[in-house]
Amino acid sequence: MMETLEKQLRERAAAHGQEHIFRFWEMLSETARQQFLNQIADVDFSLMDRLVNTWVYSEPPEEHFKEIVPVPVIPPVQTGSADAADALHAGEKALRDGRVAAFVVAGGQGTRLGFEGPKGSYPIGPVSGHSLFQYQAEKIRKLQERYGAVMPWYIMVSDSNHDATQSFFLHHGCWGLNREDIFFLRQQMVPCVDRQGKLILEAPGRLATSPNGHGGSIQALVECGALEDAQRRGVDLLCYYQVDNWAAKIADPYFIGYHVLRNASMSSKCHRRNDLREAVGVHCLCDGTYRVIEYSELDLYPQLLQEDDAGEPVFYAGNPAIHILSVPFIQALYQHFESFPWHKAFKKIPFVDAEGRLCRPETPNGYKFETFIFDALRFTKHSPVALEIGRAGEYTPIKQFDGVNSVVTARAAMSEYWAPWFEAAGYAVPRDGNGQCAVPLEVSPAFALCRDEFVEKIRGATLRLDNGIAIHADGSWTPGTPGN
Ligand code: UD1
Repeated sequence: MMETLEKQLRERAAAHGQEHIFRFWEMLSETARQQFLNQIADVDFSLMDRLVNTWVYSEPPEEHFKEIVPVPVIPPVQTGSADAADALHAGEKALRDGRVAAFVVAGGQGTRLGFEGPKGSYPIGPVSGHSLFQYQAEKIRKLQERYGAVMPWYIMVSDSNHDATQSFFLHHGCWGLNREDIFFLRQQMVPCVDRQGKLILEAPGRLATSPNGHGGSIQALVECGALEDAQRRGVDLLCYYQVDNWAAKIADPYFIGYHVLRNASMSSKCHRRNDLREAVGVHCLCDGTYRVIEYSELDLYPQLLQEDDAGEPVFYAGNPAIHILSVPFIQALYQHFESFPWHKAFKKIPFVDAEGRLCRPETPNGYKFETFIFDALRFTKHSPVALEIGRAGEYTPIKQFDGVNSVVTARAAMSEYWAPWFEAAGYAVPRDGNGQCAVPLEVSPAFALCRDEFVEKIRGATLRLDNGIAIHADGSWTPGTPGN
């Protein structure tokens, strides 16, 4: 049995010029051989040929556009405007009707943060130590209560963090959510190749692979059965966000409303770029087609680096990676997934030398391949739905510990976001000489999702804010520690 599989896979690898992957076969144990064969059986060798031919042996022709213009943006929601009221009404109806699911991509490796373990388990709460996942779960719990409908939660993970993520959820009792309404889907891995286009071994019996990018969610949603699950439940709107965004609103009724009223297949939120080099993609229209140009590719399109007279980016619409995808659109993308674009990254990839010893290169030595979900925007047929948002309370991503878009700035932004809630409830928030909130503040989303709800529910409590505070789901609270 194993011999037959071995023979087949050796032939398949050889037919694609990759027979070298068997070079340590003789030294592998029976179990290691079986595992190795399983891994090779999952490799799409034709895809690898295509990627290597396009990206390693040559470069794809550069894309030239006659005209790149900023994407038309719906201005930030002005509560009270007729437009916003209609959107809110439509969005809340979709939520009450159970048409909405949360969809988080959490399959990345999170190397920049320097944190062992799934990024979603990062203890972001400065006082409570609560994880990113706990915050997200509490938001979903609250939305389910508010709209009286189940909101399933689809969580894309990868081989590198599937087991750890699932155990983390179970260990915390899924923070009160029903386990049946949480669906883990595993994205595919793609082999890494060296400069000659050869698959890299990271152990004598294991190929070096990396997750296929968040565009892989299109395949994973379909192939892991999540899309079918959504359809069975009558869900047709997936609210997409990235696990590292502490502030993500998850299922914002206004955003859902704009998507529904404009009959969109995919919608996006945008935020104003801090500066021209902020590490975010840029929303724009390239010869009339909706695109996000990734920050690493901005130099190819110098117009995206223009500033206006006030020194602000002309193309100001940054990409917080918050979208809504309609289920039929995902299905259509899946059916033509071979036309979905790929990107390559030149990286340091550990490999084994001729003796089978692991080597960690000091400079990049090979390529990883990825797909990006925002490339799906180019397949949309309707006019763009791009809603501008502010940052605090919407977008505080955690890419690293300190510096731009970090744990430190996210905590400061969220304290700034919650401070007016405490002030509206009659508390003095300690502030520094610049008027910035001087202590860490946290409010569990399961306690309150907006200021008015907070003020109403906190009435009668006696809080101490001098060292910061975390308000928990049940209204109990923990004071911060001095000097924190
Ligand atoms: C990303 C976006 C960028 C956007 C910014 C907003 C890309 C290529 N670019 O940049 O346009 O402005 O976020 O914060 O994503 N992930 C997977 N599977 C993968 C790869 C990533 O699930 O195979 C998930 C990660 O877990 C993470 C998210 O996708 O939640 C983003 O990945 P990351 O590498 O942090 O992207 P950025 O370079 O920060």
